[in-house]
Amino acid sequence: MPFTPRVFSGIKPSGDLHLGNYLGAIRRFVPLQETHETIYCVVDMHAITVWQDPEDLRRWTYEIAAAYIASGLDPKKSIIFNQSQVVEHAELSWIFNCVARMGWMSRMTQFKDKAGENSENVSLGLFAYPSLMAADILLYKSTGVPVGDDQRQHLELTRDIAKKFNHDFKKQIAGNGFDADEGFFPITETLSTGPAMRVMSLRDGTKKMSKSDASDMSTIYMMDEADLITKKIKKATTDPEPLPSEAKGLETRPEAQNLVAIFAALSDRSVDDVLSEYGGQGWGKFKPALAELAVSVLSPVATEMRRLVDDRGEMDRILADGADRARAIAQPVMEDVRRIVGFVR
Ligand code: TYM
Repeated sequence: MPFTPRVFSGIKPSGDLHLGNYLGAIRRFVPLQETHETIYCVVDMHAITVWQDPEDLRRWTYEIAAAYIASGLDPKKSIIFNQSQVVEHAELSWIFNCVARMGWMSRMTQFKDKAGENSENVSLGLFAYPSLMAADILLYKSTGVPVGDDQRQHLELTRDIAKKFNHDFKKQIAGNGFDADEGFFPITETLSTGPAMRVMSLRDGTKKMSKSDASDMSTIYMMDEADLITKKIKKATTDPEPLPSEAKGLETRPEAQNLVAIFAALSDRSVDDVLSEYGGQGWGKFKPALAELAVSVLSPVATEMRRLVDDRGEMDRILADGADRARAIAQPVMEDVRRIVGFVR
């Protein structure tokens, strides 16, 4: 039997949400709920791989769940929950720790970037992080995962773990009534298309926009007020040239490319389409238009986020209901996994 088309994605509550999270992930989650079973998680267990103040962790968890809903996710259509409420994530990740190889994990560039010079002193959890991510995805036998470009390598690892599990336990998979050729876990597809899969810093077009940038002017946060968004866009670093008429003309101009990509993603247009309107024009025209567009999209989301975050009762109810529905999918999968690996039940 082929796998049910099912989409899973998650965001870490480890800082304020920014435009990269919105365009690379959240905004793309919304239309998928019309065509797929969709599960969107606030991955709090991932967040604690680096130190989090518990109060901040709680606040950011609510903030991300609120951002999901404020951006158009419907908690009746999509399953929205926080990871730690479904303990099966931790259990499957342990099994995957025993499937994944040290060599695979050592090649993860995000670990190398985060650990830097300090690799002896980071948590063991930070090293094992991609194995928990594979568990998040495969616990629901998810077939597609929408993420920004920076998560591609983790998705490749997820596929490697699924393949090795399917191979190592082939006999038991067949013995438990599954099609051994198809495998127990699907080979999940990375859903990563669109103009803004890698939103860059507004101060340096070669650096990714991230939750942890030291310069506040480089990052547009989801909760920024309208005048601050406008100020950040107007002060964004650019070159002095006018905009080209085709995407090819942006190839050696990272800052220009970034701003045009942001415009395209915010207006659901292609880069070429945006350039057909703005090609030949200077920044004096483009930046105010971008600022106006960004404010018109982000401000209503921020207003709704603030309202939802203050309604803790409603948020707790949504997260508990999502966790119940997530568990209903996860528990039977885990039952099968336990039998397949040989745990006595
Ligand atoms: P996180 O929390 O760092 O980022 C959440 C999502 O935002 C995307 N993103 C960006 N997209 C475009 N431009 C940017 N500058 C940018 N910055 C972040 C990320 O690609 C991601 O889609 N490991 C994941 C969380 C996770 C997960 C999962 C995702 C845990 N389990 C299972 C998918 C499926 C992470 O740290 O994302």
